[in-house]
Amino acid sequence: MRYNIEFAPIAQWIEHLPSKQVIQVRLLVGALNMVKLRQFSFPDLDRILEIEKVSFPNREAWSREYFEKLYFKYPKGFIVAENKNEIVGYTIGQPKNRVPTKRVAEIISLAVAPDWRQKGIGKALIEFLINHFRQKNIKEIFLNVRTKNKAAISFYQKLGFKILKTIKNYYKNGDDAYLMKKEI
Ligand SMILES: CC(C)(COP(=O)(O)OP(=O)(O)OC[C@H]1O[C@@H](n2cnc3c(N)ncnc32)[C@H](O)[C@@H]1OP(=O)(O)O)[C@@H](O)C(=O)NCCC(=O)NCCS
Repeated sequence: MRYNIEFAPIAQWIEHLPSKQVIQVRLLVGALNMVKLRQFSFPDLDRILEIEKVSFPNREAWSREYFEKLYFKYPKGFIVAENKNEIVGYTIGQPKNRVPTKRVAEIISLAVAPDWRQKGIGKALIEFLINHFRQKNIKEIFLNVRTKNKAAISFYQKLGFKILKTIKNYYKNGDDAYLMKKEI
């Protein structure tokens, strides 16, 4: 089933969250489920590690410490999707400060729990980041994806990302990556 996406009154959720985390809240409304997007907080990490493990069987699973490091580098870009207190997906995006002349950002990771795929959650997470980066006056978003990961490539293409080039042996196991870009 697909979910309608609506903006919810922030006040509806604000009492549950420390105020610094409430940057924007969305609901995906289904018959019985309401999924909200919010900034990551540390109690989310166990569930994120589970989603990570099942979503990336070929990639060396990122450690707790690595997720923490990514969070501290740019907390506003670590976004989770939550249904009734259960994390069902996450994404991490960060501005790339290495390129001072161009305002660019990158999507570092994205995963939705298998039972929650094809319901619009991945799209909502990426659109959330896109809106955030637009507000930061960022003009281009980059990401790398395994050339074998046809589902993710098709997903990103539907969101307007284009393949720029192949990067040989990008991953530790020797897999190639596509570099993809979207202008925003
Ligand atoms: C890629 C992933 C995040 C997509 O999340 P999702 O919540 O299922 O995606 P959505 O439901 O938001 O789909 C958005 C669009 O992408 C399309 N899409 C999603 N999964 C797809 C698939 N497996 N094959 C083809 N298209 C797909 C949807 O049909 C939808 O298109 P529409 O807007 O025209 O209806 C999810 O499959 C996943 O977690 N995969 C494992 C981890 C991974 O590969 N991450 C990306 C690494 S770079």
